[in-house]
Amino acid sequence: MDELEQGILRLHWAAEHMPVMQALRKRFIDEKPLKGLKVGMALHTEAKTGILAIALSEAGAEIRLASCNPLSTDNSVARALKEEYGLNVYAKKGETPDEYCTNLNSVLNMAPDYVIDDGADLIAMLHTNRKDVLKNIKGANEETTTGVLRVTAMEEEGKLMFPVMAVNNAKMKYLFDNRYGTGQSTFEGWMVATNLIIAGKNLVVGGYGWCGKGVAMRAKGMGAIVTVTEVDPIKAIEAVMDGFQVKKMSEAVKTADIVFTVTGCNDVLSEEDFKNMKNGCIMGNVGHFDNEINIEDLKRMASSSRRVREHITEYTMPDGRRLNIISDGRLMNLAAGQGHPAEIMDMSFAVQALSIEYLVKHRDEMENKVYTVPNEIDRMIAETKLAVMGIETDSLTDKQKKYLGGWEAGTQ
Ligand code: ADE
Repeated sequence: MDELEQGILRLHWAAEHMPVMQALRKRFIDEKPLKGLKVGMALHTEAKTGILAIALSEAGAEIRLASCNPLSTDNSVARALKEEYGLNVYAKKGETPDEYCTNLNSVLNMAPDYVIDDGADLIAMLHTNRKDVLKNIKGANEETTTGVLRVTAMEEEGKLMFPVMAVNNAKMKYLFDNRYGTGQSTFEGWMVATNLIIAGKNLVVGGYGWCGKGVAMRAKGMGAIVTVTEVDPIKAIEAVMDGFQVKKMSEAVKTADIVFTVTGCNDVLSEEDFKNMKNGCIMGNVGHFDNEINIEDLKRMASSSRRVREHITEYTMPDGRRLNIISDGRLMNLAAGQGHPAEIMDMSFAVQALSIEYLVKHRDEMENKVYTVPNEIDRMIAETKLAVMGIETDSLTDKQKKYLGGWEAGTQ
């Protein structure tokens, strides 16, 4: 199949499985809530993101889109967005660090009114080397845990110069995208990269946040013997009560066949772990940045390395052990796989679309802070999703509402 045709079909397929976005698109076409505005986006440029970009352009915005990761672009989709939908896309799979930076700058060169970021690279640039376009920015959305941590640090230091909607922290995002999305797409990446089984393997999950929970849960379901590593004592107890072994990473790697890093922190796997690691171990990262596995340590310690499969590099240690890394430690669910399922991104990107609309409506009342997405947006998305799934729920009667709102003796 020709690349352009493939991109168009992938967009159609994603759209068909994103009913909440389809409903929003209909309303956006009628109401044009972003008319005349410029929106700069740095997200993983693949089919589901394409549907968000199309929706915002149908809402009246001028769009520029770059990838938020050098390996996560689907070239066929990038081409279809440009040639079939007339959008400005600056992304290709396998960008060099310079190309990655140039593409983000191309987005900012439009002097956007609003920014949609995944990982906060655009937002950080606007506060450092691209202050020339800062004054035009009225607000931003941030998609991911790592990005929300970054913008929160900026707010705490008093450096944040516009309001940011913490899309990641909306229930309709993290409960599904982080948990079930990462829980599934990690294993798609694994299967594409390795063509190996999960069942019966010792599998270590570094980090028990919402993403780590999803990965551990699915690994268990596929028959792996799962160990979790944590730095947070409460999350560690959660992991124990969910039925997982909890160990220090330096211990866990001694018997690990597979290690997935899912923490949002750097150096989750580093020199000490590589010294202890079992021969043949395969490591992959599903955290936003490629610093969770310290590949520089590994390169320094290894006597040689070679590409053994399209997505796998094997490092041979001086003692003969061979250690493998998927997708050079970059988000393996997007670098080797196709990212989260469309039904999941339907909800995440509905939060994005409605949060931008919210920013546009409320900008004048907002301060330079990180904002939680209003509960009504979460509820509206949940209700629409349930409706398209054909699932009905109960409603409280007036008597029940009174009971729940009461406290005096006799009302209970
Ligand atoms: N597809 C588009 N954005 C994504 C994300 N942040 N994670 C996984 N898949 C995606």
